[in-house]
Amino acid sequence: MEKGDDPTSEIEQGAAVQPCTLVIFGGSGDLARRKLIPALYNLLLDGTLLPNYAILGIGRTGLRDKEFRAICREGVLKYSRQTLDEGKWAGFERRLFYLPGGIDHLKTYHDIKTHAEKIEGQLQLPHNRIFYLATPPTSIVAVANGIEQAGLVKGADGLPAKIIVEKPIGRDLISAQEINTVLGKVFHESQIFRIDHYLGKETVQNLLVLRFANGIFEPLWNHKYIDHVQITVSEEEGIGTRAAYYEEAGALRDMVQNHILQLLCLVAMEPPWSLDPDVVRDARLEVLQSLRPITGVQVNENTVRAQYSPGVINGREVPGYRREPGVKPDSQIETFVALKIFIDNWRWAGVPFYIRTGKYMPKRATEIAVQFKDVPPVLFNANRDAPLLPNVLSMRIQPKEGFSLQIMSKEPGSKVLVRPVSMDFQYGNTYSLASPEAYERLLLDVMSGDATLFMRRDAVEVAWAWITDILEGWQKHGTKWLPEYYAGTWGPIEADRMIESDRRKWRTL
Ligand code: BG6
Repeated sequence: MEKGDDPTSEIEQGAAVQPCTLVIFGGSGDLARRKLIPALYNLLLDGTLLPNYAILGIGRTGLRDKEFRAICREGVLKYSRQTLDEGKWAGFERRLFYLPGGIDHLKTYHDIKTHAEKIEGQLQLPHNRIFYLATPPTSIVAVANGIEQAGLVKGADGLPAKIIVEKPIGRDLISAQEINTVLGKVFHESQIFRIDHYLGKETVQNLLVLRFANGIFEPLWNHKYIDHVQITVSEEEGIGTRAAYYEEAGALRDMVQNHILQLLCLVAMEPPWSLDPDVVRDARLEVLQSLRPITGVQVNENTVRAQYSPGVINGREVPGYRREPGVKPDSQIETFVALKIFIDNWRWAGVPFYIRTGKYMPKRATEIAVQFKDVPPVLFNANRDAPLLPNVLSMRIQPKEGFSLQIMSKEPGSKVLVRPVSMDFQYGNTYSLASPEAYERLLLDVMSGDATLFMRRDAVEVAWAWITDILEGWQKHGTKWLPEYYAGTWGPIEADRMIESDRRKWRTL
């Protein structure tokens, strides 16, 4: 490369960030304190948040602005990626406001309107409002209706409001449709931003760049060269204090319906013809539409569900799931799930995608591994007793973000010894800047109206339809008792059997 040549290529995406008022329902709650406020503060530090904005927290707790600001400050001190700068904080804090109110009372929405108009008048902001539901999913209907009845769907200056909703959108196909219908009655689809925070992760965004900004992978990215794909999302944590939610969810609903299926879409989708949000979302949707349904008794061959029993994590003894506070002593909720999935399209015909996720596994690791087919059993691979290891491209989403390609190489020396070596790229070693948090990117995208990384209604429902088949299969044909795995292990023996019966193995992470 000539001196002065810069190989970096910046891709223009979407419109510019617009001045706005961000109204957070659940303003003093966990999500706001841990993720949203620190994310906004980091956007300010990075210079990506516009100088003109306001943040209005809404909640049942009777707080004044001063107390709300103190809660936010504590959140930033504890959870922010970058440390607190007193000067910058002082400017940020002046734009934080709080309004007490219950989401079930129409008065709250009228108060929001009056309050927002007052703040917008003071700060000379347009009536460009973003409503963030950092509240349990059961509140979606009440908030959407409240916004409509108080005339908040558009500002007085005609600017359409945006609404951000967190997962889970429902717990099966029917409930998801009901929620989407309510949202759809009040808002146009372009105003609705359904968050899947995995899509905001830097490494997840890099999946498309890796696939479509390089010439060497795409020609091999199909059933002719790929043996199988493994996606693992293992968590070291248990369910913490979320028993009430988790008892209604379980691993399939909590992790697979959304995060893991989205990872699968990014690995498997066709090249979109442009980076337009709906073109990219159409390409992801097509993968979901091509998933082979797992119905009826097929659940027994293609899925494994299990629950953790007492075990040891990092030298600490932990109780079994059924002994967690708030969990029923005979709970049948799965904390681990493994699936064998097929995508019935031309590219992926016959290629299994094995996925697994669970709580209280030995370590936190999210990885997508693409295993290529074996080389023919000749030359260096002629020894049947010691076949060569296949090439594997592993994309590590977290932690130790990066990717590596396992290739076979000759060990130096007079003998021909062929061993696997790995070509490695680690974000931490290559880039000095820490990656932004998923919520930073996602909030910025909403402010500029870019929906690429958000879930469209059709995708949510197609994913639920596929998941609902499995849930019904489990109910009608599943085993009476859930298999168990010791907390601190990689899942039940049944999950090993599922992949080993195909003469394959889970990767060691
Ligand atoms: C959430 C799930 O959506 O994602 C949690 O509800 C899970 O159960 C979390 O722990 C995992 O997210 P991350 O970013 O920590 O991998």
